[in-house]
Amino acid sequence: MSSAEIPVGLKELLQGYTLEVLRRRPPNLVEFAVQHFTRIQESQRNDQHAKKRTIKSARKGVTFDTNPSKSTKDDEEEEEAIISDKYNRRVSVCAEAYNPDDDEDDDSEPRVVHPKTDEQRRRLQDACKDILLFKTLDQEQFSEVLDGMFEVLVKPQEHIIDQGDDGDNFYVIERGVYDIVVQKDGVSVCVGQYDNKGSFGELALMYNTPRAATIIATQEGALWGLDRATFHRLIVKNNAKKRRMYEAFIECVPLLKSLELSERMRIVDVLGARVFKAGERILMQGELADCFYIVESGEVKIMIKSKTKAGQQDNTEVEVARCTRGQYFGELALVTNKPRAASVYAVGETKCLVIDIQAFERLLGPCKEIMKRNISQYEDQLVALFGSSVDLKH
Ligand code: CMP
Ligand code: CMP
Repeated sequence: MSSAEIPVGLKELLQGYTLEVLRRRPPNLVEFAVQHFTRIQESQRNDQHAKKRTIKSARKGVTFDTNPSKSTKDDEEEEEAIISDKYNRRVSVCAEAYNPDDDEDDDSEPRVVHPKTDEQRRRLQDACKDILLFKTLDQEQFSEVLDGMFEVLVKPQEHIIDQGDDGDNFYVIERGVYDIVVQKDGVSVCVGQYDNKGSFGELALMYNTPRAATIIATQEGALWGLDRATFHRLIVKNNAKKRRMYEAFIECVPLLKSLELSERMRIVDVLGARVFKAGERILMQGELADCFYIVESGEVKIMIKSKTKAGQQDNTEVEVARCTRGQYFGELALVTNKPRAASVYAVGETKCLVIDIQAFERLLGPCKEIMKRNISQYEDQLVALFGSSVDLKH
């Protein structure tokens, strides 16, 4: 009997399809398969064109760290293919299917470098220092990301992204306030705002879906863009590694048990990891909140400023609780829309997984009931400590 040989690439193709099905849960699997594999086919064709286009854009203020030798004829043929505006937008964006492991030759792609002055690079580094998606990159990858970013100045009322469009770039905010508007059943609702920090535009690039929201500048601002191909090569590929690292841990976090596997994977895709030194303050009571934390290793202690008998706050901090591996903190201010109710310190060296407020709102909605129930326990703790009743919810 002759042994059946499995063609090279078959396993990866089927895995990619299965992942997409888990993520997008299509009603018709066959129809979805046709669309999925057609996209891969188009993507492979487009890849060939894209390589030419990328090389061409080197002569439009972008340089690469390779030295391709191209004929003049090729150059002329490519002239039309590259039409980019200040957003570096391509005329047509190829919709490659999401499969971080399928483009083995990514690493041989020419690397985009947008030259920057020292002053620009300093501003860029400052804007990127707290971006969660960059927190799990190694030094070399991070430096490549910075090289690939380009500055975009925006005017009041400018739409940076329109819901439903193809994804072209990912954006990091240097300055400016941006509304997040989501259209549902024909009604536009402002679901949040970025205030002079943060990033947006990752979803369409990660999952190969249309833009999920419209982002509008409310005032003049400055952004740093990262093109789709570089985002894919550095961030999406790194996400595959992140999944392998955090999937098992995330499965064991009690708060997230009620979520579907695909929902937990989406959390892993956008989380960042931060390590705190022993004694370092992670959160400060009274500060505005923009992140949620899960302890991955080590321990944190929750400290609250004590109250005098007259109910006035004095500055002595009292320990109210500790959190260890798998437990969470920093949800209260996000759920109640109030400043931080306590300060949180690392006990020994502690590693936390961090999720920003936008992802928290988008992905942790189903867990909010559990969080709200736990607020009553905090209130009981505070009554036991300070004697008088406390209302943390309102
Ligand atoms: P993307 O879908 O590529 O483009 C719109 C971006 O808005 C999206 O990625 C997210 O980065 C950001 N965003 C922030 N809040 C939301 C939300 N509630 N729903 C969808 N997108 C959001
Ligand atoms: P937040 O208010 O966002 O920041 C401080 C965090 O400490 C708070 O969310 C809770 O996650 C956590 N915490 C734990 N115990 C208490 C408590 N008794 N009162 C207030 N916050 C607490």
